[in-house]
Amino acid sequence: MTVVTVPSSVALSARDRLIFPLDVDSLTEARRHVALLRDEVGVFKVGLELFTSVGPDAVRLVHDAGAKCFLDLKLHDIGETVARSVATAAAMGVRLLTVHAANGSRALARAAAAAAGTETTLLAVTVLTSLEDADIAELGLAGPTELAVVRLARLAVSAGVPGLVCSPQECGRLRAALGTSAPGHGPLLVVPGVRPAGAALNDQKRVATPGEAIRGGADYLVVGRPIRDAADPRAAARAIVAEIAAALGEP
Ligand code: C5P
Repeated sequence: MTVVTVPSSVALSARDRLIFPLDVDSLTEARRHVALLRDEVGVFKVGLELFTSVGPDAVRLVHDAGAKCFLDLKLHDIGETVARSVATAAAMGVRLLTVHAANGSRALARAAAAAAGTETTLLAVTVLTSLEDADIAELGLAGPTELAVVRLARLAVSAGVPGLVCSPQECGRLRAALGTSAPGHGPLLVVPGVRPAGAALNDQKRVATPGEAIRGGADYLVVGRPIRDAADPRAAARAIVAEIAAALGEP
C-alpha cells in the first residue's frame, strides 16, 4: 500500500479553511466571484457544472488570481483512468481533488499514489448526502447510511486517501471510527452544509454553523449561498472567518 502523509491542518488560518464554491456556468461569473472574494476566502471550489462548461480554464482563472483551487470532480472509473486523471489534476496544481470511495481499494490506492508527493490532497466522497437509507438499499449496499459512510471512509483511508468530504454531523463519528479525535491529526475533513445562525438553509437539511462544524472536528468548510446571496458577500465571508477563528480559539 502507498504510504501517504496526511497534511496536518493545524497550521491553517481561519481564512485558509473557508472554501467558496464557484457554482456558476461561465468564466465571466466565476471571474467576478474570484475578484470579489479572493482576499476573504482560502480556496475556490470548481465543481462539475463549471468544469463541464469551461474546462481547465476555470482552474487557471483561480490560479491566475493567486488563489488555491479545489477541483471537485468526484472521479469514479477504473483505476487506470482515475489515476491518470488524478495525475493530470495534480499537474495543474489543484490543492484538493475528490474521488468516490466507491472506486474500491485498488483504484483508491492507485489514485493516492498518483497524488503522493504533489501539492494535491485527495479527498474521498463516501455516500452522497442526497442519498438516504432507501437509496442505499436500492443500490444493494449494506445500510443504514451512517454505517455505509463509516465503512467507505475506512476503505478510503486504509487505501491511503488522506481526506474525506462529510457532513458536519458525521465528523465526530468518523473521527471516532478512524481512531482520531482532533482536527489536524487524522484524515482531513472537508464539510459542506454549513450555515451561519439565521441564514437561509436553501436545500441543505442537516446543517451546522461554522463554529459548530469546526468544534465538531471539521478542517475545511464549504460555504456557498450564504456568501454569494448576501447583500455584502465580502462582509458575509469575513463574519464566517471570524466565527471559525473564535471556534479555533484564535485571537
Ligand atoms: O450553497 P451551499 O453552501 O449549499 O453550497 C455547498 C457546496 O457544497 C455546493 O457546491 C454543493 O454542491 C457542495 N456539496 C454539498 N453537500 C454535499 C457535498 C457537496 O452541498 N454533501
